[in-house]
Amino acid sequence: MGVWWIVVVALLAHTASAAVREYHWEVEYKFGFPDCKEGMVMAVNGQFPGPTIHALAGDTIVVHLTNKLATEGLVIHWHGIRQLGSPWADGAAGVTQCAITPGETFTYKFTVDKPGTHFYHGHYGMQRSAGLYGSLIIDAAKGKIEPLRYDGEFNLLLSDWWHESVLSQELGLSAKPMRWIGEAQSILINGRGQFKCSLAAQFSNATAQFSNTSLPMCKFKKGDQCAPQRLHVEPNKTYRIRLASTTGLASLNFAVQGHKLVVVEADGNYITPFATSDVDIYSGESYSVLLTTDQDPSQNYWISVGVRGRKPKTPPALTVLHYVTAPSSQPPSSPPPETPRWNDFDRSRNFSKRIFSAMGSPPPPRKFKKRLILLNTQNMIDGATKWALNNVSLVVPATPYLGSVKYKLRRGFDRKSPPTTFPMDYDIMNPPRNRNTTKGNGIYVFPFNVTVDVILQNANGLDANASEIHPWHLHGHDFWVLGYGEGKFRPGIDEKTYNLKNPPLRNTVALYPYGWTALRFVTDNPGVWFFHCHIEPHLHMGMGVVFAEGLNRIGKVPDEALGCGLTKQFLMNRNNP
Ligand code: C2O
Ligand code: CU
Repeated sequence: MGVWWIVVVALLAHTASAAVREYHWEVEYKFGFPDCKEGMVMAVNGQFPGPTIHALAGDTIVVHLTNKLATEGLVIHWHGIRQLGSPWADGAAGVTQCAITPGETFTYKFTVDKPGTHFYHGHYGMQRSAGLYGSLIIDAAKGKIEPLRYDGEFNLLLSDWWHESVLSQELGLSAKPMRWIGEAQSILINGRGQFKCSLAAQFSNATAQFSNTSLPMCKFKKGDQCAPQRLHVEPNKTYRIRLASTTGLASLNFAVQGHKLVVVEADGNYITPFATSDVDIYSGESYSVLLTTDQDPSQNYWISVGVRGRKPKTPPALTVLHYVTAPSSQPPSSPPPETPRWNDFDRSRNFSKRIFSAMGSPPPPRKFKKRLILLNTQNMIDGATKWALNNVSLVVPATPYLGSVKYKLRRGFDRKSPPTTFPMDYDIMNPPRNRNTTKGNGIYVFPFNVTVDVILQNANGLDANASEIHPWHLHGHDFWVLGYGEGKFRPGIDEKTYNLKNPPLRNTVALYPYGWTALRFVTDNPGVWFFHCHIEPHLHMGMGVVFAEGLNRIGKVPDEALGCGLTKQFLMNRNNP
């Protein structure tokens, strides 16, 4: 009797504190000035970036998303949210739902179960690169506190920006031969950057390396959309800075002049705090850093976000940490922090290897049940450039996988799974001997509640002496990052180097040039989940795979998610027998 009473009270208390947060969003193109040059951006309710969602752990988010685009489909993916029990709300076109057609409204509904720094973005075509993104911040539930102490917080959503339209970029990427999109014109902080001018123009050496001439000083009029948001701080306080990167291409490095950063959160999971002068952040990742304002309070300081991992042609994005005790218009007295050398990959790897889960975080299962070893290669198909995994370049089918598996529509995709490994004599240090690859839409199917290891294996691209960074992102899960290695993964040997004690839980992880990255997850979330490189053009060129798990446990999927391809006819027949 007593026990039941406690359960009832607990349930009541739970429902009393968790809120439903409901939003009505309309997405359309509008003219904007992300980097002071006019361009077309995708806007949510007229805003670019889209509005920030603030919620508490345990809340339910409801977004009624209306497609106001004239001629394009639309979906939004909630990056970092695991969608436990709501796989249909994940927002990956062709995987978990049909693209929403112009004029139509689709309702996403999901719960956010733990605190963290996340974001949302378009996941159809290359709409993320077109500017369809915004922040999604989850705070601790009422009455709970996070294991962090700070006096104030800032949220910086990082992205990159091209002047070429995304439709033109997509066309070029599929062209024969491919027309590469090149480096971004600008890096944006909360949708703001500066093209052809610099906030740090007075330090000519700081800007000259990114342009033939040194750049002029930026001048802003009141209300300019490209004017940087400065961070106003008081001396001797601690601030939480939330960072998230939704770049199409760039790997970034974040630094604040003269200030130490203590990294405390990665991808919505607490980590063992560590101090650093700067943070590498790859597309798809998020971090929280704590910054203490312990420097000379009569000065202002640069915040710089520069490009790493690719030869930078894009100047760093700049803004100012403004101590309220310093004259507001006084520029920092020395040049912005220099971004570490782009190809110092040892430095990049060392940063990744400093990340450990926080005490009390669940350790991974000791052993895996299934393992995939995925070779990442750049290849050709009929004159077009592609990316492939174990020699299959993914083409997402017209019928969303979730519908095909839920309703057992056998013709929805190729029933043969792609290879689980690659020939062990493959030479990862040189361009592929066979440059050609094949398209495919097969998926990897796992039973419910098994431990899966994925080894990502990097290789040389099509050109000699070139291997790129690929940030891999998994939907529907956090995974443990068990380790990184250089060269080819050696089964039976390299497992011994795994960190099984305190590997970080993440949803995105970097694969470094010519190396491997090992991760582990448990198939505890029935659904179909995208796993792909978060570089937008790479994904567009086939760099992804799909995992399906616990297929007979998938709950109800709203018909509205599946009004296309084979599921459309199936649902019509079922609903009107
Ligand atoms: Cu943020 Cu499937 O991606
Ligand atoms: Cu990639």
